Amino acid sequence: MNDTQIMPISGDLLSHSLFFPFLFLILLLVVVSIVYSTWCNGISPMPTSPKAKETLLSGLPPGVSGRVYELGSGWGTLVFPLAKQYPFSQVIGYETSPLPYLVSRIWQMALHLPNVTIKRVDFYTMKLNDASLIMCYLYPEAMVNLRDKFQEELKPGTWVISNTFAIPEWTPETILEVDDLYHTKIYLYKVKLNNNTASTNTDNTI
Ligand SMILES: C[S@@+](CC[C@H](N)C(=O)[O-])C[C@H]1O[C@@H](n2cnc3c(N)ncnc32)[C@H](O)[C@@H]1O
Repeated sequence: MNDTQIMPISGDLLSHSLFFPFLFLILLLVVVSIVYSTWCNGISPMPTSPKAKETLLSGLPPGVSGRVYELGSGWGTLVFPLAKQYPFSQVIGYETSPLPYLVSRIWQMALHLPNVTIKRVDFYTMKLNDASLIMCYLYPEAMVNLRDKFQEELKPGTWVISNTFAIPEWTPETILEVDDLYHTKIYLYKVKLNNNTASTNTDNTI
């Protein structure tokens, strides 16, 4: 007679033994997703710092009434405060990185701001000719590419605000300096007639 007993595995034991591998798998997926989209986009989804956000929001141009675009809206750090600051404008965030996009959409549902739209698209593929204000926190090469896009698409009077990275060859109206370790600069540009060549593109459907 074989008296070896097979002990039944309790649900508790199973769920405890699966908890850490499951957590590890989730963290791994988060890290892989962020590293992969950083590699694809050339920039991590690093949010604007609280001090830069405060400086930026206090220095926003008044009287903006048309569409506001955030190019690379990340986790939603700026898109929601912008929507509050400009309640009569439609504020549109474009973001390709899946995880920040997902988190910002969850925030959007929680905050119920009717004037916010966030889309998972590459901003280079979207027309910006109806913008009144454009916000970005990107990287030097993107500012070169965007300068050409801005010159083709933006109408005179459009504001372009860039955290940290200046637009080469453009002269800012104002430079805000953040009271942080790096004295981060925020550049505010207003498109002039002579650095804008066309604006007869089709509308973006939101
Ligand atoms: C430094 S983060 C800034 C996030 C946010 N704007 C903020 O200030 O908190 C730059 C974001 O731009 C996104 N991004 C970069 N290139 C993009 C592109 N071509 N289309 C859409 N999003 C892009 C990145 O995924 C990243 O989330």
